[in-house]
Amino acid sequence: MTAEQDPENFYDAVGGAPTFEKLTARFYEQVAADAEFRALYPEADLGPAEERLQLFLKQYWGGPTTYSEQRGHPRLRMRHAPFVITHKERDTWLRYMKVALDELGLPAEYHDEMWEYFERAADVMVNTIETPEPRKGLTL
Ligand code: HEM
Repeated sequence: MTAEQDPENFYDAVGGAPTFEKLTARFYEQVAADAEFRALYPEADLGPAEERLQLFLKQYWGGPTTYSEQRGHPRLRMRHAPFVITHKERDTWLRYMKVALDELGLPAEYHDEMWEYFERAADVMVNTIETPEPRKGLTL
C-alpha cells in the first residue's frame, strides 16, 4: 500500500511530527550554509520557509492539515514559478534532502518511498532549461 492510499499510517509509522521537524531542520541547516543556493530564498530569515516545508510534508504524508489551513491549496509548481530552478538547483535541493533523509535512519521501505517522492516532486519544480553558450563565429 502506498502512502497516498493510506497516508495516516505512513505519518505515524515514520515517527510523526519529530521526524518531519528533524528532516526540515537538517535540510535548512545545509541551505543556510550554501551562500549561492541560499540566495534563491527571498526572506532574510529561513525560519518561516522551514516551517512551510515542514507543515507541507507533514500534511502530504498524512499528518495535520495545518499547511492548507494557513496557505490554501499547495500548488507547489506555481509557488516555485518566481524562482529560477534549473537542473542544478534541483540537484542541490535533492542532495541536501538526501542527507537529511538518510540521517533519519528510517527502515528502507519508508526511506525509499520518501526518496522516490522527493525525486519526482523535485523534477516537477524545474522551470528553467539551461541553454548552452551561444556559438561564436558560426553562421548557420
Ligand atoms: C527542485 C528544487 C527546489 C528549489 C530550488 C526550491 C526552492 C524553494 C524556494 C526558494 C521557496 C520559497 C521559500 C519560502 O518562502 O517558502 C520554496 C518554497 C517551498 N517549497 Fe520548494 N524548492 C524546490 C523543491 C521543492 C520540493 C521538491 C518540494 C516538496 C516536496 C518543495 C516544497 C516547498 C514548499 C511547501 C514551499 C512553501 C510554499 C508556500 O506555502 O509558499 N520544494 N521552495
